[in-house]
Amino acid sequence: MRVTLALLTLSSLFAIYHCTYTSTDVLEDRRNAIRQATKHAWRGYKKHAGFKNDELRPVTAKSYNWMNMSITVFSALDTLYIMDLKDEYEEARDWAVSGLDLQRDLNVSFFETNIRVVGGLLGAYDLTKDKQLLKQAVKVADKMMPAFNNKGIIPFPSINLQTGKGYATWSDHVTTLAELGSFQLEFNYLSHHTNNPKYAAYSLKVVAHMQSLKPAHGLYPTLYNLKDGKISSHPSNLYTFGASSDSFYEYVLKQWLQTGKRDKKLRQMYDESVEGMLSMVYRSKFSHNVYIVEKKGLGYVLHEMDHLACFVPGMLALGAHGETLDRDMMLAEEMMTSCMDLYACSSSGLAPDRVRFHASNIYDFTPVDARYLLRPETLESLYVLWKKTGDEKYRGWAWKVFTAIERNCKTKYGYSGIKDATRVVDTPKDDVQHAYLLSETFKYLYLIFEDDAKASYDLRRVVFNTEAHALTIFHKSAVK
Ligand SMILES: *[C@@H]1O[C@H](CO)[C@@H](O)[C@H](O)[C@H]1NC(C)=O
Ligand SMILES: *[C@@H]1O[C@H](CO)[C@@H](O)[C@H](O)[C@H]1NC(C)=O
Repeated sequence: MRVTLALLTLSSLFAIYHCTYTSTDVLEDRRNAIRQATKHAWRGYKKHAGFKNDELRPVTAKSYNWMNMSITVFSALDTLYIMDLKDEYEEARDWAVSGLDLQRDLNVSFFETNIRVVGGLLGAYDLTKDKQLLKQAVKVADKMMPAFNNKGIIPFPSINLQTGKGYATWSDHVTTLAELGSFQLEFNYLSHHTNNPKYAAYSLKVVAHMQSLKPAHGLYPTLYNLKDGKISSHPSNLYTFGASSDSFYEYVLKQWLQTGKRDKKLRQMYDESVEGMLSMVYRSKFSHNVYIVEKKGLGYVLHEMDHLACFVPGMLALGAHGETLDRDMMLAEEMMTSCMDLYACSSSGLAPDRVRFHASNIYDFTPVDARYLLRPETLESLYVLWKKTGDEKYRGWAWKVFTAIERNCKTKYGYSGIKDATRVVDTPKDDVQHAYLLSETFKYLYLIFEDDAKASYDLRRVVFNTEAHALTIFHKSAVK
């Protein structure tokens, strides 16, 4: 009798803290709240920064430029479309296909232009089949092609729109893993939809080059020489799943998915990288949180992790396959819990941008960089895990993140990053509404609360680029 009672009490507690069901009314309310937030962010951008400027300053109602490519417009397109914000979509679309001056004397980042501008146009084209969007994507991509006029094979990180000249952005003539390895999804898609193999040809060439490097333990360090594409001996070279490396691994897996899971070499490359990553996975002493360290020369270990690395649970869940399926799903779920701890253990309810883990019996981690920059990676992983497992707890967690964003980041004009996520009230704001708030953060939140039957995307049919622009997979090799 007592045992039964105890069990009953436990299970009713469980029901309160771990919802196993979300009613369609609740889903609709939540989607509406996220839709309103998106509308607020878009309107603020349009009124005070659009369309000629990159981003909104949401506290001072000014604009902010770091690319001069109107990136918020391209970032928002597909998000506005799936949320059925029709007027907003139309104005963004009209500007996106005609507003950008591509003849300017402007140096742009190959990586950022591809993932944000080309990716944004293709994501919207994929949903609407509006040919103008594809045409504009081709125009922008063609402006990026001189990046491959590098005899060292890997693309120049910076391109002048007017002259087509490529530049190094680091003084030592190196480029990063993320910059040289996060264009293939978009370029493969372009070739597939234009019947012009030239884009995919570069994507294959760079991947083949990276495979030829055969790095130790399947892990690729962050820096490469522009002149020969070899691994740089720069003293700051390191192994990480955070900044400057992250999306390379993501794109290896997603290229394999995009081309119908047929390229065994790509899958092997991904599997080897995950094997290598396992040697960088640690568990904290106090609450056994799983995290990924950074390594220098595979020897020196730095027990720090970027919030950016919280894309890994989603990647592992998406890639879980074959013999390692259970291992990868388990690690994905465990690491997801750690990433949520970064939010839950922070007074604002939002995660610091970078933390250090301690071998302590009393606490797990402390912030190295306490800012919360409206970043999407944890939500991206929650979305994939929710889709893969159907476990409602991931929806509950996502909603907590959204309410914390509302509480801490909302301003009269939009949404701002905060300077210290460990503060409880009146967290000072950084006055930047990152474009990825519209392409990624709010999009993934919205998708998590969609009804399965009416979902905008099916993870078996699309791959998301690293700015959350979804591209339909094509079950074919990238070049015919
Ligand atoms: C953006 O364009 C403006 C006006 O042409 C210029 O003053 C500014 O330096 C540019 N910024 C960047 C990052 O190129
Ligand atoms: C582009 O970058 C190169 C190399 O850093 C520099 O010399 C040139 O002035 C830049 N052009 C513009 C328009 O900023």
